[in-house]
Amino acid sequence: MADYDSIGRTYTATRATDPRIAAAIEHALGSARSVLNVGAGSGSYEPSTRQVLAVEPSVVMIAQRPRAAAPAVRAQAEALPFADGEFDAAMAVLSDHHWRDQGGGLAELRRVARHRVVVFTWDRTTVADLWLVDYLPGFRRLATGGMDVAEVAERLGGATVEPVPIPHDCKDGFLHAFWRRPEAYLDPRVRAGISVFARLDPGAVAEAMERLRADLASGAWARRNAAILTREQLDVGYRLICAELEPAS
Ligand SMILES: C[S@@+](CC[C@H](N)C(=O)[O-])C[C@H]1O[C@@H](n2cnc3c(N)ncnc32)[C@H](O)[C@@H]1O
Repeated sequence: MADYDSIGRTYTATRATDPRIAAAIEHALGSARSVLNVGAGSGSYEPSTRQVLAVEPSVVMIAQRPRAAAPAVRAQAEALPFADGEFDAAMAVLSDHHWRDQGGGLAELRRVARHRVVVFTWDRTTVADLWLVDYLPGFRRLATGGMDVAEVAERLGGATVEPVPIPHDCKDGFLHAFWRRPEAYLDPRVRAGISVFARLDPGAVAEAMERLRADLASGAWARRNAAILTREQLDVGYRLICAELEPAS
């Protein structure tokens, strides 16, 4: 598991709200007025027009929240210090795969939400779909851990699952964000904002980056990936899971 007190120190250097993903999350939250954001990190994707409370275990991440961000409680998804149905909605963005007990955390989201649970996550069953894994074969093994989105939806008591295509100029530097900007992965600052790189063998990452650098210089990468170079956005496995707990009044 990635510990954000050690790997999150430069998070906000490359991680930020992408407005197009934010709009999808905002839409999924529907009419919810009070929202609990679990695994909130530095505050990306927190809706500004609703009453938000953040839950985040890492002090390093809490310290990077802007002054005007929603208040944050230091706690974990698996044991939320709130009453049943205390919030209209609970949300988790790019966080559930980090939880020690993913099923327990999802049950907690469901418990504290009155109307909706919204989870934005990556579907590990798509691991082989993007060129990145050709350079990082160790990522296949990492992706075998945790639940796939169908299981997440089931744990939430049934939910809709919508693909969220990632724009080529995505503002949030998560793992697949640079699908059309491969040179970004050569930047250690970019890799520092992506937990997968901290979990892979450093020697394997260094070797992968050298191979990528060479393929970019020779044009081999561009030849192999010609089909995606003209795409404005691409489905690289990100999913918005939305569970309606009872009809919104
Ligand atoms: C990739 S960051 C995402 C942060 C933020 N939601 C965003 O979209 O930028 C993952 C976050 O999950 C948090 N996290 C890890 N384990 C957790 C747990 N058991 N309960 C709640 N949050 C957790 C990490 O500390 C980190 O802030």
